[in-house]
Amino acid sequence: MVDNTRRDHHLPTGDLLQAATPLYYYDLDVLHETIDEVKRQIEGYPFKGHYAVKANYNPRILKEIAMSGIGADLVSGGEMQGALKAGFQGADMTYSGVGKTDQEILLGLEHEIGCFNVESLPELEVISELAREMGKTANVAIRVNPDIDAHTHKYITTGTAENKFGITIEELEHVINQAIALPDIHFKGLHFHIGSQITTAQPYIMLCETANALMDHYEARGIHFEMINAGGGLGIDYSRPDENPIPDFKQFFDVFKQHLKLRPGQTLHFELGRAIVGQCGTLISRVVFVKENRNKKFVILDAGMTDLIRPALYGAHHKIQNLTSRESASDTYDIVGPVCESSDVFAHDYVMPLTHRGDLIAIRSAGAYGESMSSRYNMRKLPVSFYSK
Ligand code: LLP
Repeated sequence: MVDNTRRDHHLPTGDLLQAATPLYYYDLDVLHETIDEVKRQIEGYPFKGHYAVKANYNPRILKEIAMSGIGADLVSGGEMQGALKAGFQGADMTYSGVGKTDQEILLGLEHEIGCFNVESLPELEVISELAREMGKTANVAIRVNPDIDAHTHKYITTGTAENKFGITIEELEHVINQAIALPDIHFKGLHFHIGSQITTAQPYIMLCETANALMDHYEARGIHFEMINAGGGLGIDYSRPDENPIPDFKQFFDVFKQHLKLRPGQTLHFELGRAIVGQCGTLISRVVFVKENRNKKFVILDAGMTDLIRPALYGAHHKIQNLTSRESASDTYDIVGPVCESSDVFAHDYVMPLTHRGDLIAIRSAGAYGESMSSRYNMRKLPVSFYSK
């Protein structure tokens, strides 16, 4: 088990508190301890970790992860360029996405990436054509849509038959046969990704059972998979970031160790995003005004949905702390941003110590899908970032 008890250093102190806000503060110790725990759990197994760059492509964060030896999981040519610049090797890259353009595929071929996770037959054919033109062989896994409901938010469930990702089990055989037949394709195996912020083992157990059944089925037809990619999705504890800064990787990897019947020589790949970077980042903001409307009190921050869109987009909850107030009394506030949208709300009816103009506010667990989803809507500035060292 991870010792999650002795941490109190995730928040900025000293000079940083004078800095212009909003800003992202990254605790690199938390990041490294998280990565070390992933490495500890997969050591001795034929497992390969990849970091899902979409969760946070801050160049410093990418560099720290690249140095740790974990691979990269990509969804665009831009991410590929960012990952290459940060020091990830092409061979350690997997690349998913339903709409890979010719330019993006060519970039992947040029850097001889470890795996294209192919999401449709037309995509497979285009990769094969482009590989032939370049005189290369493309490494390919087929993304399976296993029709497993990960019971997470509907916008971040990806493995059910109603959504656009992957190839259904019924069509799979045809696509695999094509992949094997095409000379410019090196068919490696199957890819899955069933959703994000998954907090129970059950969907992953179902994923293992589906993969086992597919391996049995195809082996009986003489088809062997070199690798299986289980995707990402492991959730983090948004309500108790100090108690649980490091996700329960042991429980997560144990599911695969126990339930997936890997064949000799087979490798198992993972594409974790949120679980790696989620808890190392905090959005720091200042209170611009406290105002009262009829019987509601609003804390208005200088950070808004342009800096962290998760609450507005998914109704996501992040722990919020007043870093300045020494008041012993508390009050109930709606904590909102300055953006001209009613959904620009970080929390409704949130109890905090009495809060005043100028107080610093920390929005926790914002390392994943925070800075990476920020925008310049309302012509706002992008948030800046600071690091613990
Ligand atoms: N692999 C693939 C193919 C993916 O689509 C994703 C995430 C991942 C891996 C990494 O998933 P993770 O380990 O981070 O759960 N913006 C949303 C989450 C979107 C996830 C999209 N795909 C949020 O803020 O909750």
